[in-house]
Amino acid sequence: MSRKKIALVGAGQIGGTMALLAAQKELGDVVTIDIAEGVPQGKSLDITHGATVIPSSSSLTGSNDYSAMKDADVIIVTAGLPRKPGMSRDDLLEVNCGIIKSVGENIKEQAPNAFVIVVTNPLDAMVYLMQKVTGFPAEKVCGMAGVLDSSRFSSLIALELGIAAEDVTAMVMGGHGDTMVPLTRYATAGGVPVTQLLDAETLEAIAARTAKSGGEIVGLLKTGSAFYSPALSAIKMAEAFLKDKKNVLTCAAKLSGEYGVDGLYSGVPVVMGAGGVEKIIEVELDATEKAAFDVSIAAVKDLTEWVESNVKG
Ligand code: NAI
Ligand code: 2OP
Repeated sequence: MSRKKIALVGAGQIGGTMALLAAQKELGDVVTIDIAEGVPQGKSLDITHGATVIPSSSSLTGSNDYSAMKDADVIIVTAGLPRKPGMSRDDLLEVNCGIIKSVGENIKEQAPNAFVIVVTNPLDAMVYLMQKVTGFPAEKVCGMAGVLDSSRFSSLIALELGIAAEDVTAMVMGGHGDTMVPLTRYATAGGVPVTQLLDAETLEAIAARTAKSGGEIVGLLKTGSAFYSPALSAIKMAEAFLKDKKNVLTCAAKLSGEYGVDGLYSGVPVVMGAGGVEKIIEVELDATEKAAFDVSIAAVKDLTEWVESNVKG
């Protein structure tokens, strides 16, 4: 059996961390691509120098040429600009559209069978554009945000309860922005609904902090945005695909009528395996949750319509 090939487009904070994680997990051979000369090469060599310590048999290479992604099995795209303090995700729209378009055109040419995971913000609009540019089937193009947002939600619940984060299961749906929808009613700790363990006011505060967690990290770091937990989240998705794990993960998937939405990407729970996004799971939402989801979809729709009207070809 030949080794899997993982291409990471963007060798910045998230890209470099993903290269290390992929090598640690020995998911396959890792090629990292960036326009910054020396950066993908340097990070790949740095991780290679630690291969005996990890230990890892993955080969790591860096390149400034998109042809290095040739025939990759999975491609994770972080190429773009990150948020800076005071900057919203949506401010990034224009510049990152240009980058995603050129990366997408190269993916289409170099790796027509790849499973593509987009991380670049604003997430839901960038993954929409990626699928449009590549023309790949919707199940082969998805976005990473829900795994991260759900993990943030679970971690904050665990912190409040003083219990292990691994025992908390919680889900965040909708777009990756301030309107995201943490589903408190479905959160459990060791199988016990957290609504039985925490009062409504506390849960509301945790949900609000979750939705602003990306901004909280930007405010603390001052020179960039979160990268460790985003890298962990994207690699979890790649692993689900490469190992056909059939994990239930929340990710930005293209909706075709589910949740009453057609033709937009948004965060929903899916089954992820060798077929990519193999199934979209429809969760029952009560009237309040559905109303919040609809608000989030309206925000995604605005961004997507901007992409439709402003990105040519
Ligand atoms: P970074 O600035 O450290 O890395 C981005 C890299 O992309 C840079 O090395 C840059 O040289 C490279 N790049 C720019 N244009 C390129 C091109 N045309 N081809 C190849 N490489 C190119 O940023 P970081 O922290 O890694 O974040 C990456 C993206 O991920 C940002 O858009 C950020 O907002 C987003 N993000 C998304 C999250 C999510 O949940 N979806 C979470 C955190 C960040
Ligand atoms: C985050 O949620 C900035 O989208 C990025 O950390």
